[in-house]
Amino acid sequence: MPNLTVEIFGVKFKNPVWVASGTFGYGIEALELYDVSRLGAVVTKGISLKPREGNMPERIAETPCGMLNSIGLQNPGVDDFLKKIYPQIKNVDTHFIANIFGEDEEEYVEVCSALEEADKIVAYELNVSCPNVKRGGMLFGHDESVLGRLVERVKASVKKPVLVKLSPNTGDLRPFARVCMDAGADALVLINTLLGMKIDIKTQKPELSTFMGGLSGPAILPIAVRMVWEVFSQLGSGLPIIGVGGIYDADSALQHVLAGAVCVQVGTANFFDPYAPIKILESIESYMSEKRIENFTDLVGRAHQLFVRP
Ligand SMILES: Cc1cc2nc3c(=O)[nH]c(=O)nc-3n(C[C@H](O)[C@H](O)[C@H](O)COP(=O)(O)O)c2cc1C
Repeated sequence: MPNLTVEIFGVKFKNPVWVASGTFGYGIEALELYDVSRLGAVVTKGISLKPREGNMPERIAETPCGMLNSIGLQNPGVDDFLKKIYPQIKNVDTHFIANIFGEDEEEYVEVCSALEEADKIVAYELNVSCPNVKRGGMLFGHDESVLGRLVERVKASVKKPVLVKLSPNTGDLRPFARVCMDAGADALVLINTLLGMKIDIKTQKPELSTFMGGLSGPAILPIAVRMVWEVFSQLGSGLPIIGVGGIYDADSALQHVLAGAVCVQVGTANFFDPYAPIKILESIESYMSEKRIENFTDLVGRAHQLFVRP
């Protein structure tokens, strides 16, 4: 049997296939469908300090090979998460990672601090694709110095590992990746959704209530793979990369891995095939057996070694 375990930032994951924030609820919804403990990890829906209702409908639209969403980070807030949701995930035998966002640095710190004693949560994933209210709504992840300060501040305040999920809308993630590494981040998660728009030609209006939304799904796979490749080229194995964006089968997952991702997250694919993460896991196992690869981690960044510049 190939060895699929991955050990990063001091945590051992049974396999590298995780599910992405916002596309799998809190992990409990899927328990009726399959044994969620087969997953390497579950990343929760975004959690904030106070409850949030999210945006008005329409907040989802279908696009060629993908979807747009402008959910607006709807969630019950960290207190309700701990009271009502956490007890339900406590007995699921896999790791949980809490996806966190805030309106200012202090809120990120407060939400993470509230989760410090929740043992099932092994790490925090900071969603930095959200507006910094104290900076006139500019996204945390779109300004290198703001991002660096946020990561430093959270790292100084919490004990658990801190993963930073970058916004691809800056175009080049390398400077942001470097800033996160220097600020002490434990891993990078690449990528969040890309800003997009859809217009309904019947009504001649934008389909989403917010006009624009985040594009996800297979449509963004080549962009995500390019970004993982670029950041891995720059940082090497200095900082683990978790690949997310467009993954829907073993081929798309392995592209992320060969580009440099040590684990992958399955997102939008959960909506069109809830069993996708399990199928991906099984197909990666078969791929490794066929190619006689004993350890999954031998595949990480392998395309760089085999790459000959034309
Ligand atoms: C409906 C929906 C909700 C999402 N909510 C969050 C969220 O709360 N926090 C976050 O960091 N990313 C969120 N994402 C982004 C995904 O986790 C993922 O980064 C993105 O969709 C790209 O992966 P995919 O192409 O596999 O879906 C959301 C995506 C979708 C489609």
